[in-house]
Amino acid sequence: MNMIDIITRKKLGQALSAEEIRYFAQGAGDGSIPDYQLAALLMAIRLNGMTPQETTDLTLAMRDSGDVCDLSAIPGMKVDKHSTGGVGDTTTLVLAPLVAACGVPVAKMSGRGLGHTGGTLDKLESIKGLSVAISEEDFVRQVSDIGVAVIGQTASLAPADKTLYALRDVTATVDSMPLIASSIMSKKLASGADAIVLDVKTGSGALMETLEGALDLARAMVEIGTRSGKPVSAIVTSMSQPLGTHVGNALEVKEAIDVLAGRVTGDLLEVALLLGSHMLVLAGRTATPEEARKLLLEALHSGAGLAKLKELITHQHGDPACVDDVSLLPQPALIRQVRAKREGYIGQMDTTALGLAAQAMGAGRAQKTDTLDYSVGFILPVRIGDHVSPDDVLCTLYARSTQDADKAEAAIRAAITISDTPVEKPPLWYAIVTKDGIEHFV
Ligand code: URA
Ligand code: CA
Repeated sequence: MNMIDIITRKKLGQALSAEEIRYFAQGAGDGSIPDYQLAALLMAIRLNGMTPQETTDLTLAMRDSGDVCDLSAIPGMKVDKHSTGGVGDTTTLVLAPLVAACGVPVAKMSGRGLGHTGGTLDKLESIKGLSVAISEEDFVRQVSDIGVAVIGQTASLAPADKTLYALRDVTATVDSMPLIASSIMSKKLASGADAIVLDVKTGSGALMETLEGALDLARAMVEIGTRSGKPVSAIVTSMSQPLGTHVGNALEVKEAIDVLAGRVTGDLLEVALLLGSHMLVLAGRTATPEEARKLLLEALHSGAGLAKLKELITHQHGDPACVDDVSLLPQPALIRQVRAKREGYIGQMDTTALGLAAQAMGAGRAQKTDTLDYSVGFILPVRIGDHVSPDDVLCTLYARSTQDADKAEAAIRAAITISDTPVEKPPLWYAIVTKDGIEHFV
């Protein structure tokens, strides 16, 4: 096998064989192929695309470039959920305990915040003592024992993707549908679940801002699942505004606890129930999402979901007292209420800018080595379409300093338009893609 031949074939728009794809993915993972050849191939793929079969072959080759987690010791069908990334998107902390409380094991490998998006691992680590660095053996034992665990990706998970993603970042080849779909799916398949529910975001805070782009990505990832024999459903949901009302690590943990305790309803709960119901269906727990939703609501109202979160925290060495008293979560140096200052209707939100405002306050990293301040962020009680009066609270800032709060206030004001005329509320979800096709909700 010769790398120049492989680049040449892709340059001419030809489809690569599974062997050729395996060769360069392995070489990307073990460092035996130089960056300049990988970069040339990535650009050829970006320009000439890949067939669905090539995309699947690349996914499986990247999955196999490292360790594949073996969950077979855990009885039952293990389901995973993955979001393409959002702001105020705490669905994992709501649905993982609820799904587990319904008897379906959740073995979840999550990520850290990236750019304007938050990450489940960072949120969990705002709980005193909690660890997400758990060995594969303990991960499997915990899921067997209590039905749920949320951990970080092992260092050896899909190393080919690590290399290729870093190269794409600096060669203007991130925006390639086969490369995005295979990158996400290689890591999901390596984490060992039997079935996967994908939450593909669309809107101003999403990886794919347009609905068309989000649908294409959803289709590409479901196709990979189908071709590799794993049931995958992808639901396209809105990221035209933060999903929950809380943005920031400890704030989002608080919101998840409030939802599981039955104190708060709204869009975060609705999306968690939608994704969770499809997890129960893929796991064979119920025949329809409607039945699944009923079970999840029972687990919510009985307190079984909240109890499951407490168990998870305890097993992962965290202090579970925050579940009963959310004031024990990290608290900020200052809290400031920001008023709307004018009358009107909440129009558009630049959700990416809102996420970046939280990051700048210390909730996210500008550089890999930055340490987080778990206490900071903001609460945004308003939703698109809401009417506001000048004295209404537009947001409540949780900040480290007056200076940080001033900057965040300016950024958040700039990111939210207030319109003189009524604004229609955007839909919460658009479509579901399964192996059987697309069902549009709106
Ligand atoms: N997230 C990933 O993991 N990979 C991509 O290519 C894009 C987003
Ligand atoms: Ca393994």
